[in-house]
Amino acid sequence: MWEGWIFLNHQKQPEVSLQEFLGDFGTRFAGVSWENTDTSLYFEAHLDANWKVLADAFSETYHIPSIHPATIGKTFASAVNPHSRPLDARFWGPHRQFSTFGNPDYAPPEDAMVEKMAYANRDTGNVLGAAETAGMTEYLDHPAINPKQSKHWALDIAVAFPTLHINLSPGGFWSHRFWPISVNRTRWEAEFHVPKPLTGREKLQQELYITRIAEILLEDVTNTERTQRGIEAGAYDTMQLQDGEVQIRHNLHHVDRWVNARTVREALGI
Ligand SMILES: [Fe+2]
Repeated sequence: MWEGWIFLNHQKQPEVSLQEFLGDFGTRFAGVSWENTDTSLYFEAHLDANWKVLADAFSETYHIPSIHPATIGKTFASAVNPHSRPLDARFWGPHRQFSTFGNPDYAPPEDAMVEKMAYANRDTGNVLGAAETAGMTEYLDHPAINPKQSKHWALDIAVAFPTLHINLSPGGFWSHRFWPISVNRTRWEAEFHVPKPLTGREKLQQELYITRIAEILLEDVTNTERTQRGIEAGAYDTMQLQDGEVQIRHNLHHVDRWVNARTVREALGI
């Protein structure tokens, strides 16, 4: 157990403890007050894609303006940051964190009445909130969350290698898990947390959150199956990554290292 999260080690005699495995990542995120866990909004799908294709899809924001133009294209990018360049990236062994950009000048379209009423996180440029940020001071003030204290912050993506992504946003947190079934098939799970609504406005915010999240996820996961088909076509044997995709580079570097290591300690470099 770590901070309420359950990890499974399938070795009969674990080579390292969970504390050793998580290392400084575990220390850094210790004490986060996991918010709004009244209700879970749970998604699960079996996808025809390698697990790394799924993990990569949720490891950078460079794709957002092109894959999500109608949903979050204008909140995660802006005229000054059209390709959603990240704010910050940090690494601890195979684990990592990535802070993404939010557009503080975003305003809902004139005719988007529900979005306007639901829009509670204006100061952060982020509409991906299931709750108001009032009352979440302890969570938002945690030093691991928005480490640069940027006004342009949308969310942090914290990755416990290899399969757990925890996304920390102004309105709370959610997680993704990527379970490999075969070389080109993955069981994907995503779990979002929603508090009990106390007002009509909060209910509207949640309804918007839920429908928008579902739209965004459909945009992401359908693309992963197309990506896998592209990989299997074999026309390219390399992929170029730019600086904004450093999380993917880091993941692939460590996957390679784990595949080739003889022991867990060797893979972790401890
Ligand atoms: Fe996406």
